[in-house]
Amino acid sequence: MRILVLGGGGREHAICYVLRKSKSLEKLYCIPGNGGIEEIAEVPKGVKANDFSELLDFCRKGNIDLVLPGPEEPLVKGVRDFIEKEGIKVFGPDVFGASLEGSKVFAKEMMVKAGVPTARFEVFDDPDKAKQYVEKVGAPLVVKADGLCAGKGVFVCDAKEEAFQAIEKLMEQKIFGEAGKRVVIEEKLEGEEASYIVLTDGEHFKALPTSQDHKRLLDGDQGPNTGGMGAYSPTPLITPELKTEIETRVISPVLKTLAKEGHPYLGFLYAGLMIVGNTPYVLEFNCRLGDPETQVILPRVENDFVELLTAALKGELYKIDLVESRKSCVCVVMASKGYPEKYEKGKKIEGLDEAKKLEDVIIFHAGTTKEGDAFYTAGGRVLGVTALGKDIPSAIERAYQAVSLIKFEGAHYRRDIGKRYFKYIS
Ligand code: AMP
Ligand code: GLY
Repeated sequence: MRILVLGGGGREHAICYVLRKSKSLEKLYCIPGNGGIEEIAEVPKGVKANDFSELLDFCRKGNIDLVLPGPEEPLVKGVRDFIEKEGIKVFGPDVFGASLEGSKVFAKEMMVKAGVPTARFEVFDDPDKAKQYVEKVGAPLVVKADGLCAGKGVFVCDAKEEAFQAIEKLMEQKIFGEAGKRVVIEEKLEGEEASYIVLTDGEHFKALPTSQDHKRLLDGDQGPNTGGMGAYSPTPLITPELKTEIETRVISPVLKTLAKEGHPYLGFLYAGLMIVGNTPYVLEFNCRLGDPETQVILPRVENDFVELLTAALKGELYKIDLVESRKSCVCVVMASKGYPEKYEKGKKIEGLDEAKKLEDVIIFHAGTTKEGDAFYTAGGRVLGVTALGKDIPSAIERAYQAVSLIKFEGAHYRRDIGKRYFKYIS
């Protein structure tokens, strides 16, 4: 099979890494790719990742059989609908399904239809009415922009004034443009956050190994939210009982509802959850794999990845047993100085070869470029230093051993990735 992966982060490097191992892979391309991806996939220069006509042209000329979008943006903008019209398969939801991530209002409507547990909410397109509502119900509450805001459109407000400010920023100052024209205001939930990701053909699904992200920039879950500073898999937070609860109360009903609407969901469905007591409340859906969750999930899937995708494309996922490795996995993100705000770029990265030589260590690149044999930083999150081990503590030790060998100016990483594991087992 000839596959084109869209994206250029650590998630896409991990996707290319498992595709590369498949015996059914004939040719692998990635657009726009990154320095690390270039070593295992062909990265065509000059094809714009966000121009669907250029992508389609590339697919035709390169006889691409399957396009696999990594991030949400192409899916929300309709890449599946656009490319599939021309007879080329795309592994991801159509624009209707991708709206689960593209519009918080749509996601809430689907959740209500499916009877999925979620925070109580109201939708507003008028800032004055939104403020009156906040005045009436009081804090704490959560204000969410309807559209995509690169993960920055959610304001958890513990005081009414914070909620007024959030409404002003989104609806009056329009800091995220059209994405903030409508808002969802919902009740604040208290519990443990978890995510649950499945691979689905629209009717059947396979749960991928469980994982937990570390969203805050600094140790001890301090500092601002980021795209994710590290992850570990599996997580003891998701017990077998909770898995059943999530699948029967969230995943199955949502997939059934989308199918009933005439849009069976093909692809990866990511449920961001707040576990309150034993009930999984959905905070958000993503229409893709998580980053950096993918970097710890995919190395633990022992199936041939192309076979998994092919089974899903044929609607035959029920024929497959997903085989999860007994090993645990930890990924520590090394980021540029300044991330998640304005960050530095162009710093030479040293020590990658030494780190790569360690047993069971995989270095996933995110924001890097390759010049000759050297790698340079080119993004906020630079590397996902990933290690497998017999259990979480040994994977943590190995990942940090690898991190200690890698150097670039201003490198920042958390020193407590995976430690949350101990909280759930004690
Ligand atoms: P979302 O993009 O909707 O997942 O929101 C981003 C983050 O905001 C989540 O990961 C939670 O930490 C927090 N959050 C969102 N909704 C709620 C809620 N209803 N109650 C408490 N925290 C929330
Ligand atoms: N790591 C969180 C996400 O991919 O949405």
